[in-house]
Amino acid sequence: MKVNFLGHAAFLLEDKGVGLVFDPFLTGNPQATAKPQDLKVDYILVSHAHHDHLGDAVDIARRNGATIVSTAEVAGLCAKQGAQTAAMHIGGRNPFAFGTVRIVQAFHGAGVEGGHACGFIVNFFGHSVYFAGDTGIFGDMELFGRLEPLELALLPIGGNYTMGIDDAVLAAEMLKPKAIIPMHYNTWPVIQANPEEFRQKIQARQAVEVRILAPGQSTEF
Ligand code: NI
Ligand code: MN
Repeated sequence: MKVNFLGHAAFLLEDKGVGLVFDPFLTGNPQATAKPQDLKVDYILVSHAHHDHLGDAVDIARRNGATIVSTAEVAGLCAKQGAQTAAMHIGGRNPFAFGTVRIVQAFHGAGVEGGHACGFIVNFFGHSVYFAGDTGIFGDMELFGRLEPLELALLPIGGNYTMGIDDAVLAAEMLKPKAIIPMHYNTWPVIQANPEEFRQKIQARQAVEVRILAPGQSTEF
């Protein structure tokens, strides 16, 4: 599987001709290295409706005939704008052509009335990936790695709106992934964080690989 960091919290997974993007905020994203029209994807997973996560999801879905997978409230918002959607909610785990999507809780605003922010545990052709979305730390992260042993965790480290570095280090101890890619930092001054500090602090406590990607970079798992 190829993991492409598109900047901020946007990641594109690619394998076997299938593309899945998390939170494709490209237009107006200071870190974005791709344009919505560049993305060839089949699935778009949206953690919540804040602009830096919902982003270009509807536009990309309509261009590609891709399916937006999200909580019912966010999916409803996207369906009204003409996107094909799969509405799920926290606790649900559904099969898709590439594997499975489980929606898990995140502690954050939903950006849509009556909704809830979420994270995802995706099994993408056998690779287990936790995308935390925007969230503070919470103890139930300890359950996630037991529900589905994690190969990769995508964790926010920028603070202010989400976990900062020290909390993300503790979160990683609960999640026990094999590898981590930090996200949601340095997009704006208010979420300034040094990913090397995150790597050093986490590797002082546990054996986990931290891959730091610059926007536009990709890596293989
Ligand atoms: Ni948010
Ligand atoms: Mn955010």
